[in-house]
Amino acid sequence: MNLRPFRTLAPAVLLLALPGCFSNNRHQGQRLYAEQCASCHGDQGQGLGRLIPPLAGSDYLVDHRAELPCLLRHGQHEVIVVNGVGYHNVMPGNDTLSVARMTNLLNFIETHWGNEARLRTMKEVQEQLDSCP
Ligand code: HEC
Repeated sequence: MNLRPFRTLAPAVLLLALPGCFSNNRHQGQRLYAEQCASCHGDQGQGLGRLIPPLAGSDYLVDHRAELPCLLRHGQHEVIVVNGVGYHNVMPGNDTLSVARMTNLLNFIETHWGNEARLRTMKEVQEQLDSCP
């Protein structure tokens, strides 16, 4: 069998496949949000009445930036105030999110729905996790 056509095609196939890989990675944060957070915080990060605080336009995200990796890792169950409204409910922790995934997830949340935080690096997220109380 003559393999020549396959050899010449292979690089082209690779080039076609690559953009797919990159965009998957770029959208990982969005996908994780849809899978693990949207059921509570809403498709648009809008929250749910007095039960679930919003992420869209949340002053909590800005004021507690350095604590968010620990919040995602260990969850939270105390009174918090978001945009002037008090919430007291259970935010479940998640010990399966890798540092890379957590970074992508936070970067997605913090740059969507009107949020405009500077992007996080994995190093920053790792350091913040290391100093969880
Ligand atoms: C079971 C419902 C539920 C799920 C799932 C959930 N959360 Fe929460 N989240 C809450 C509740 C309730 C609070 C408020 C906790 C409190 O009262 O202390 C909260 C608080 C927060 C806060 C801080 C307050 C704010 O609104 O800025 C952030 C950030 C947050 N969640 C992000 C996430 C992310 C990211 C995910 C997905 C990995 C997620 N949550 C999954 C219910 C949930």
